[in-house]
Amino acid sequence: MKLKNKVAIVTGGGKGIGKEICLGLVKEGAKIVIADLDKENSSNVIKTIIQNGGDAIYVETNVSNEQSVKNLISETIKQFNQIDILINNAGIRHVKKLEDHSLNDWNDMISVNLTGPYICCQAVIPQMKKIGKGKIINFGSIASFMGRPDRVGYVAAKSGILGLTRALAIDLKGTNINVNTICPGLISTPFNKKYAEDPTHGEKWGKETIVGRWGRPSDIVGAAVFLSSSESDFINGSEIKIDGGWLAAKTREGEI
Ligand SMILES: NC(=O)c1ccc[n+]([C@@H]2O[C@H](COP(=O)([O-])OP(=O)(O)OC[C@H]3O[C@@H](n4cnc5c(N)ncnc54)[C@H](O)[C@@H]3O)[C@@H](O)[C@H]2O)c1
Repeated sequence: MKLKNKVAIVTGGGKGIGKEICLGLVKEGAKIVIADLDKENSSNVIKTIIQNGGDAIYVETNVSNEQSVKNLISETIKQFNQIDILINNAGIRHVKKLEDHSLNDWNDMISVNLTGPYICCQAVIPQMKKIGKGKIINFGSIASFMGRPDRVGYVAAKSGILGLTRALAIDLKGTNINVNTICPGLISTPFNKKYAEDPTHGEKWGKETIVGRWGRPSDIVGAAVFLSSSESDFINGSEIKIDGGWLAAKTREGEI
């Protein structure tokens, strides 16, 4: 087991990619704290973990609220004594035409997708310093690397995550705390359900990747385990794209 007795906070662990990461980390021996707004889904994940002999708690958390995150840290320490891993997976996305994308929409995108990870990092870093090591994994997107239509706030936030990751990595030099980003492409989760199941575009969009299909939440788990484990100790301030090769190559009509 690569993560025996490590304590991992997974934000947004109640469903989608975060849920799969929780289950994957448990298989490697980690104890899980799900930090999510969604009590019902999160409690179901906790139940599954415990039924399978794992150890996990749910702490209702809004990642963009500093007080709520402080409570998350104190509940985690109360239960498990330490924090080894933080997975900043919680995210939301508004898809709206620029003229309809209000300042509130922009603020939502920045506060959950960028300020949330910042607040969580600031809160766990002192705990990681206490034990002399730690692994932080932020969540970017293909939107960290390119403009995507009708997603101005999301693209800005997900681009900012790469900067946050690099800035933290250098500020944490000498602490044994690594900070990296996972950048998923199209992954079929509740977040993207309406696109994945769209009869006109769903399948076609999957075929645009080099691998030729939509990603599954389980496609993200290997990288999350790797970046949480000592196998990735020399990777810092970096990012892994998990997008079936979508960003690597584009074809023109008639080429393939
Ligand atoms: N699914 C994709 O195709 C895709 C692509 C690129 C990036 N991502 C990123 O991956 C991450 C996970 O995406 P997903 O598809 O699993 O999403 P999802 O919508 O399926 O799940 C997100 C989870 O985050 C929780 N959450 C939302 N706001 C929160 C808040 N303020 N505080 C705490 N929890 C909150 C939700 O309750 C939910 O359980 C996100 O950061 C997303 O931006 C996803």
